[in-house]
Amino acid sequence: MGRLDGKVAVITGSGRGIGRATAELFAKEGAAVVVNDVDPEPAEEAGQAIKDAGGEVMVSTDNTVNLDEARRMMEAAANQFGKIDIVVNNAGITRDKTFHNMDDELWNFVLDINLKTAFHTSMAAMPYLREPAKKEKQEQGRPAYHRKVNFTTSTAFLQGNAGQANYTAAKGAIVGLMRTLARELGPFHINCNAVAPGFIETRLTASKQEGSDMGVPEATRQMALMVIGLGYYGRPEDVAKVHLFLAGEDADYVSGVVLPVSGALLGGM
Ligand SMILES: NC(=O)c1ccc[n+]([C@@H]2O[C@H](COP(=O)([O-])OP(=O)(O)OC[C@H]3O[C@@H](n4cnc5c(N)ncnc54)[C@H](O)[C@@H]3O)[C@@H](O)[C@H]2O)c1
Repeated sequence: MGRLDGKVAVITGSGRGIGRATAELFAKEGAAVVVNDVDPEPAEEAGQAIKDAGGEVMVSTDNTVNLDEARRMMEAAANQFGKIDIVVNNAGITRDKTFHNMDDELWNFVLDINLKTAFHTSMAAMPYLREPAKKEKQEQGRPAYHRKVNFTTSTAFLQGNAGQANYTAAKGAIVGLMRTLARELGPFHINCNAVAPGFIETRLTASKQEGSDMGVPEATRQMALMVIGLGYYGRPEDVAKVHLFLAGEDADYVSGVVLPVSGALLGGM
C-alpha cells in the first residue's frame, strides 16, 4: 500500500531536481501526478520515467506565472484524474547579483518564478481543493480528508544570502503567503506548509560555469560544505521525502510550519 494511494498531486517545476524527485516518489507511493515544467524536454522525460515505473502521470508545460495557464493546468488535471488533492509549489530559479547591481528585470523574473507561480498555482487549485472540502463540511460536518498545499522557501531566506536579494525576498514572501493560507484554509482542512531546503545538489547549486546564469561559485560550494552539520550536500530525494511526509496523512495535524531540510546547515534553521 502506498502512502498516497488514490490521491492526485500537481507539482510545479518537476522536470528536474527536487520537483522531479518529488513527482517520482509521489507516483511510487500511489498518487496520480501532474509533472509541470516550462521546459518541455525534462518535463516529458520525467513523465516517461514515471510511466515506465508504472505510475499515472500527466505532463503540463503551462507557465503558472500566468494565471490563465495555471487555471488551464488545473482544469486539465481535474478532467484527467477527476480531482486534485495535493499541490506542491516547487518551481523556482535563481539569478544572483550583488544588490547595487540588481535591476528590475532580474528582480521581477525571480519574484515571478518563485512567488507568482505559487500564488497562481494555489489560486487556480482553489475550486478543486476548497470547494469540495466546503461541500463535504456542509453535508457531513467536516471535510472528508485533509488536502495539502506544500510551498518551497529556502534557508537562504532564513539566514540571508549575499547576492540573492531578489531570491530571498521571494522566499520570504512565500512564508507569509503559506502562513496566511494555513489560517484561511484551515477550516477546510487544507494544510499549508513549506519546506526550506538548504544546499541540495541540483543545477541551482552546481559549480557555476563561466557565462552561466545559475550555479554557485566553487569556493562558495566548498565553504557551504564546511557549515553543513551532516557534512554532505543534500539530494533531491531528501527534500522529496519531506514533501511526502507533509502531503501524507502522518502530517494531518501539521499546518503553517517551515521545515528546514538542511542537514543542520549553520544559520539555516
Ligand atoms: N537546490 C537547492 O539547494 C535549493 C535550496 C533551497 C530552495 N530550493 C528551491 O527548491 C525548488 C526546486 O529547486 P531545484 O534546485 O530542484 O531547481 P532545478 O533548477 O533543478 O529545478 C527547477 C525546475 O523548475 C522549472 N521551472 C522554472 N520556471 C518554471 C515555471 N514558471 N513553471 C514551471 N516550472 C518552472 C525549471 O525548468 C526546472 O526544471 C526551487 O523553488 C528552489 O528555489 C532549492
